Amino acid sequence: MTPTPLAPAFARRMAPLALLAGLVFGVILPAVHHTAILRARTTEARLWAQDVAAAVERSARLRPVLWAYDVPALSHAVDAVVRAPVHGHVRIDARRDGVFEAGPLARPDEVVAFAPILVEGRTVGRVQIRLDVAFALGTVRAFWIAALLGGAALAAALYFLPVATVRRGDARDAELWRALQAANATLEARVADRTRALREREAELSALGARLLEVQEAERARISRDLHDELGQTLTGLRLRLTTLASVLDPAHRGQEHLGAALSAVDAGVEQVRHLAHRMRPAALDGLGLAAALRAHAEQWAADAGLEVHFELDPAEPPPAVAEVLFRVAQEALTNVARHADARVVTLACGPFDDGWRLVIGDDGRGLPPPDPARRRGLGLVGARERVEAAGGYLDLESGSPRGVRLVAWLPPS
Ligand SMILES: Nc1ncnc2c1ncn2[C@@H]1O[C@H](COP(=O)(O)OP(=O)(O)OP(=O)(O)O)[C@@H](O)[C@H]1O
Ligand SMILES: [Mg+2]
Repeated sequence: MTPTPLAPAFARRMAPLALLAGLVFGVILPAVHHTAILRARTTEARLWAQDVAAAVERSARLRPVLWAYDVPALSHAVDAVVRAPVHGHVRIDARRDGVFEAGPLARPDEVVAFAPILVEGRTVGRVQIRLDVAFALGTVRAFWIAALLGGAALAAALYFLPVATVRRGDARDAELWRALQAANATLEARVADRTRALREREAELSALGARLLEVQEAERARISRDLHDELGQTLTGLRLRLTTLASVLDPAHRGQEHLGAALSAVDAGVEQVRHLAHRMRPAALDGLGLAAALRAHAEQWAADAGLEVHFELDPAEPPPAVAEVLFRVAQEALTNVARHADARVVTLACGPFDDGWRLVIGDDGRGLPPPDPARRRGLGLVGARERVEAAGGYLDLESGSPRGVRLVAWLPPS
């Protein structure tokens, strides 16, 4: 997109305005001048006609019948007109037959005026004056030519000067626009560079996160093995020795009581080690599969927490990596229910869904607390979400209906 130049639209609007101004100056002004000149000459002719009529009326009053034949008197009456440098032609018409004319013959450019000759209230004739306006029309013509030229110049100036200014503005706009485009392109390139760098960092971070989880899982497996194989073996050896000792000692010996207590303590220790080892890496996951491992873990957890669990577990077995992530998410979700929910019943569903694997854990507890920036943020769900997302899935924690919390985790097949 480029800025629309204003000059063409401006020129279209200016053209009629400039033409109108040129017309007013070049045609209407000289026409008014022309008419004014003709009017002035006509008024002059009328005044002359009235003067002559007044002079004729005077002689007519003296000779009411023969005044039309009194050539010397009539000549005297028109004398002023004929002598004046106005190139006037006078004609006197009497009512009956008398006609008198004096002065140079009229030319084509002339104005005409009349005045009645009144004697005792009656019109007895009329005076006609024709005045030559050829000399005045010379000035009028010169005025016409000057006005036409001036009007054309005015119209041209009114059109071309502002249009040229607007064109210059358009050119400057286009230049600014190009500069803006260039700056924009530079900025976009920079943003693209930054985005690429950020994506790289993000990919590095997520690879690091995945690696951390792997290392954590391996470390847990190692500790679990050590606990089970070494401490477990040691405790089992200890138990054997204590049992042997109990069998070789006299049953009535005072030490038997202590040996019995020691054996119980060792049994409790063995059980604790087994429990710990299982929490570190659930053997059931390897041996029985996800559904059974989830059931075993949840039942144990429900017994400890005093809650009721309903299962909807599909026996289909996901790939080991998916099973491992889903199991860990379930562990964290159940721990959260016990710690935060104040629930009575929990439902645990797991199985194939939407071309992948889905785990849903719902409770009927108090639900999620309102957001509070001041509250310490836990890491359990963050870690669970990272595990799920690293495997290409998603994890949602939403309010349950009608109450409680519903956690949904979905993972692609592998
Ligand atoms: N089932 C639930 N019912 C009510 N609130 C829950 C439930 N699950 C999670 N929450 C809320 O979500 C918050 C975040 O859980 P998360 O597991 O990330 O942290 P945490 O359990 O508080 O601490 P951590 O898991 O790091 O020991 C919890 O503090 C709790 O307020
Ligand atoms: Mg937690």
